[in-house]
Amino acid sequence: MSNFEVIIYDKQDGTGYITLNRPQFLNAYNIQMRDELYQVLGAIRDDPEVKVAIFSGAGERAFCAGADLTEFLTAPSPVIARQARWERDVWGLFLNIDKPLIAALHGYVLGSGIEIALCCDIRLASEDTQFGLPEVGLGIIPAAGATQTLPRVIGGAKALEMLLTGRWIKAEEARRLKLVNQVVSRRDLLPMAEKLANRIKGYNPIAVTCAKEAITRGLDLTLEQGLALETKLSDYLLTSLLDRG
Ligand code: COA
Repeated sequence: MSNFEVIIYDKQDGTGYITLNRPQFLNAYNIQMRDELYQVLGAIRDDPEVKVAIFSGAGERAFCAGADLTEFLTAPSPVIARQARWERDVWGLFLNIDKPLIAALHGYVLGSGIEIALCCDIRLASEDTQFGLPEVGLGIIPAAGATQTLPRVIGGAKALEMLLTGRWIKAEEARRLKLVNQVVSRRDLLPMAEKLANRIKGYNPIAVTCAKEAITRGLDLTLEQGLALETKLSDYLLTSLLDRG
């Protein structure tokens, strides 16, 4: 088990467990968390033993209450802020991991919390979960992908409503909007995530990554391009199966 300061990373039987770990600050996403998350995501991507990963938040109250407001606009200059983003493209890395990522959400899921969840492929929420995008109310806009990832999941009108009005939504509405796949009790949250992870781990990992790529990349393509991608991936998969004998 690797213990960073604000993230716990654990690996068991092919599952990577990533726990945001600043419960006293509702797991607010700070610079340290960004740096540690970047390392952990690299490990998930590169470690052949990790087949699937589960993201969760420590403590009873939150998955993540958004960007750390005490660090708000603290970069010495916009140029330095941009350079830091360029050097550590956490969100680019997140969205390019070809292994299945599961978000196990509870409590407050605000701002960057939603953005982390949206970088995952399957989102489970416990009944106490509340989602919100406070950015516009703070005079900024999301910068970790939500303006692009959220409308792809719940559609433009609902994404605009959440962002422009700052209205929070509860777990059941999030399920209706397809922001989360399933709502479970708090007690069942991690076991349900593990159940899904175990099922995925039982499958051929190449088929799993091809399926993920076909759907996630295909969403940004025309139907024609998407079908070509599917053919390419399915040929690749068949070749790999034949090679294995
Ligand atoms: N950044 C930094 N610290 C945060 C934080 C954030 N985004 N969200 C919560 N915290 C801290 C609080 O400052 C508090 O710390 P303290 O005990 O040292 O004062 C601790 O976490 C607990 O939060 P608190 O505000 O006391 O809990 P609450 O139940 O009264 O309210 C929220 C919960 C989520 C409604 C409230 O914390 C909140 O609005 N947070 C900010 C959400 C936000 O705007 N995020 C930025 C998105 S861009």
